[in-house]
Amino acid sequence: MIPPPVIAALRGARHVVALTGSGISAESGIPTFREAQTGIWAQFRPEELATPEAFAAAPARVWEWYAWRRTLVQAAAPNAGHFALVRLETLAPRFTLVTQNVDGLHARAGSTAVLELHGNILRTVCSKDRQVVESWTEPAQPPPRCPACDMFLRPDVVWFGEMLPMRQLEAAMAAAAACDVFIAVGTSGLVYPAAGLPLVALDNGATVIVVNPDETPLTSHPTVHHLRGAAAAVLPALADALTATR
Ligand code: OAD
Repeated sequence: MIPPPVIAALRGARHVVALTGSGISAESGIPTFREAQTGIWAQFRPEELATPEAFAAAPARVWEWYAWRRTLVQAAAPNAGHFALVRLETLAPRFTLVTQNVDGLHARAGSTAVLELHGNILRTVCSKDRQVVESWTEPAQPPPRCPACDMFLRPDVVWFGEMLPMRQLEAAMAAAAACDVFIAVGTSGLVYPAAGLPLVALDNGATVIVVNPDETPLTSHPTVHHLRGAAAAVLPALADALTATR
């Protein structure tokens, strides 16, 4: 059951922003970032693999971890939560989708103009000049090397301690400041600057909605609406409620 004030806020909104985190892809079979890792990767924390320092110290290990995650992403399909955001996009006069996910599932579901704050795991770049590389020779010992300059290739994702892509971050900040409704879906709200976006929206008077089965730092805020549950159940219910009242 979606609370009436949430439906009213969405109905009246001129600009809706959704921020997604790895929780929205959980039901597509992609483990969330902080979930226990499985198999040979269980001994490492993601924070020990997703850093420039880890890549410098153990490039083969980091490349292979991403190769494993890439396999999971390629085998996965968008779920009802991703598809509901496509519906919400068509229902709002203006809609901005910002994601921390690197899995590309929003675009595969049909969302347009997604702001990818942390890059995309399916793109590979030269670690020196960050140019996208489409094909390379797999060496016996990974990572493969850039065909142009022979430096290591790496996934086009943002690692801990690295800058976010400036154009996407600025667009996300501007949207958060200007929106009437901000929906934070499947994110623990622990990693900045993305975690600051709903706070910018709150400061500017937007209605903030959290979709998450668990508490987050945001859910204790007195004016935040917490829709407790899985994104694949709550987001379709939200889109249905909005359609039913039109
Ligand atoms: P986290 O793994 O930190 O949090 C996932 C959130 O999703 C948690 O709050 C869960 O309660 C929630 N969740 C789990 N299953 C869900 C479901 N079915 N529906 C809705 N929510 C669900 O992932 P993120 O917040 O995305 O950054 O993490 C943010 C960033 O931290 C990542 O992009 C990554 C990581 O460090 C970088 O790699 C730079």
